[in-house]
Amino acid sequence: MKTYNLALIPGDGIGVDVTDAAIEVLGAAAKDRFAFKTTTFPWSCEYYLEHGSMMPDDGVETLRGFDAIYLGAVGWPETVPDSVSLHGLLLPIRKAFNQYANIRPHRLLAGVEGPLKTEGFDILCIRENTEGEYSGAGGRVHQGKDNEVAVETSVFTRAGVERILRFGFEQARARRGLLTSVTKSNAQKYSMVFWDEVTRELAAEYPDVTVSHMHIDAMAAKMVMAPQDLDVVVASNLFGDILTDLGAAIQGGLGFAASANINPDRSAPSMFEPVHGSAPDIAGKNIANPIAAIWSVAQMLEHLGEADAAAAVLGAIETATGKGIGIRPGLNTTQEITAAVIAALEA
Ligand code: NAD
Ligand code: IPM
Ligand code: MN
Repeated sequence: MKTYNLALIPGDGIGVDVTDAAIEVLGAAAKDRFAFKTTTFPWSCEYYLEHGSMMPDDGVETLRGFDAIYLGAVGWPETVPDSVSLHGLLLPIRKAFNQYANIRPHRLLAGVEGPLKTEGFDILCIRENTEGEYSGAGGRVHQGKDNEVAVETSVFTRAGVERILRFGFEQARARRGLLTSVTKSNAQKYSMVFWDEVTRELAAEYPDVTVSHMHIDAMAAKMVMAPQDLDVVVASNLFGDILTDLGAAIQGGLGFAASANINPDRSAPSMFEPVHGSAPDIAGKNIANPIAAIWSVAQMLEHLGEADAAAAVLGAIETATGKGIGIRPGLNTTQEITAAVIAALEA
């Protein structure tokens, strides 16, 4: 039986609750299939207040040897600015481990209604995860307060754009054969025109995939008006970030949206985490929906090659939601939802 070494970073707020839930479900899914060992790292805003950094200097290197990383959520803006906490932990891990494909599925689980009249949508958002608007390049120039200038530079490399689009084309090929590339090339005349060009070049290599180009503004509207027409959606780091909270909303809320930060060439561990954040407004109330976190466990199992266990976890989630468990915010506690998923796994 295989044993997986997993690094856990529960993080802040509800990140801790949903990680507990996710690992409990992982335990039930493991059963006779595989074994796993967890090492928990307390890296968080609390850790920052004590140590002056979000993780030790060798934090990333410490994670390198693990088979996968599971993260809850990071951020507690009341005590640590988000620009400090996220650039000190989550974002450097994605970058250092070349987790360039952030896979975020959006569909309605059994029993979940969502705010739209539309049903039957199944969108796979592939978000570029290591460069673009999140390059970190830029600065502020002070020449007196009235003349202050802040610059945030997006960096798009051919290698970076090509590999994320190629990843999207491969996914589209394995699904319904539709790829929507999202840009804003009518306004951003360098980076997004470049992205469109690379999309066209690659499209020639994938004649079996139908490609459409959409601007991010029109795309936001389409995701609400006709989400059933979308299949694979590829977007830059920031556009993908925004679209996937929208995707979460149409699938019933942030508590349902899973995410996998994948290093496709497996030269370093991949990281699994829900789309949502630490939710300070509901932290400590025991009402965080753990389904997004549990679905991310299924993504992790899929990546580790445990397809049966992954399918069992997804099936158990839908058995629970199909019975009405956790389908609306506040309906059930975090523990009740977790217990229902585990019961379905063990049935
Ligand atoms: P958020 O995702 O934490 O919360 C947005 C809204 O969704 C809140 O009303 C919250 O209660 C609700 N929500 C989120 N997850 C839920 C769940 N599982 N069940 C039920 N309701 C849920 O976004 P935010 O408020 O903008 O951010 C809070 C903090 O988290 C910030 O510090 C932010 O930077 C950080 N953040 C971290 C991550 C991450 O670690 N991956 C992602 C997003 C935000
Ligand atoms: C996400 C989050 C992060 C992002 C933040 C917390 C930096 O919103 O994972 O979607 O923008 O990538
Ligand atoms: Mn986000």
